[in-house]
Amino acid sequence: MHDEPALDSRIAAAAARLARARFVAALTGAGVSAESGVPTFRDALTGLWATFDPRELATPSAFARNPKRVWDWYAERRAQVASVEPNAAHRALAEIERRAPRFLLATQNVDGLHARAGSRALVELHGNIARVKCSACARIAQRWDEALDALPPRCARCGEFLRPDVVWFEELLPAGALAAAEDAARECDVLLVVGTSAEVYPAAALPDAARAAGACVIEVNPDTTPLSARADFALRGRAGVILPALVRAAWPDSLGSASAVRDAASG
Ligand code: OAD
Repeated sequence: MHDEPALDSRIAAAAARLARARFVAALTGAGVSAESGVPTFRDALTGLWATFDPRELATPSAFARNPKRVWDWYAERRAQVASVEPNAAHRALAEIERRAPRFLLATQNVDGLHARAGSRALVELHGNIARVKCSACARIAQRWDEALDALPPRCARCGEFLRPDVVWFEELLPAGALAAAEDAARECDVLLVVGTSAEVYPAAALPDAARAAGACVIEVNPDTTPLSARADFALRGRAGVILPALVRAAWPDSLGSASAVRDAASG
């Protein structure tokens, strides 16, 4: 790998594509929140799915079998994400949105950190852990802030259990969110793929859709993923370091560059 250009020059080349793009899209996964202290899913030692069995916690049948267990697990995660802050990667994506003529961020994360960092053109492909919905009548989701130690609360309309408004295995993604992400993948000039193992479909299909439509795909991840070999740029490193460096290189005069330099230096 010694003939691979140094990371700095690849960041500069990727940033040039970013700065020229009329439409920038981004796809993020759990890795973008890792530096905020939110565990990822598939990291071998610290990932949630290394410790917990998703079939027992993140499927409709798990909820039907043991609603309290599932509710309690999500209540704990809800409290956890409420206690952390967006990091330099979330802020860099909000800055790219301010800089790009057109922008869309599709996230697989349910933690709400992108919105808290200032992202506005945002679709949440897997829902949002701060909201609940009825498990039976699908009554529209509402925010749920209280900790709860009893059984899951009941729907005011039909009396069935409320559940987190997140997408579980075996469930479909919200159609509008997925369609918006697919349109963006087809229409964008640059797709940033940040902090995702690129293993869970349909989100994992978005980078190939973007490439097929001619977009430049820039992956940001400390590890190699199934996407890495097909990406135009696979920038190895933490999102909280690489994304601010990309912003700084793409828009050297940007207001965000001062904080980006600081974040990269302290990252
Ligand atoms: P994963 O846990 O599968 O992958 C996280 C990725 O983030 C890995 O590729 C890590 O190498 C990378 N990563 C770790 N730290 C990072 C950092 N500081 N900066 C950048 N990248 C870093 O999480 P997702 O790809 O989001 O679905 O998983 C996709 C879906 O699978 C989740 O939305 C969830 C899960 O099951 C549902 O719950 C429906």
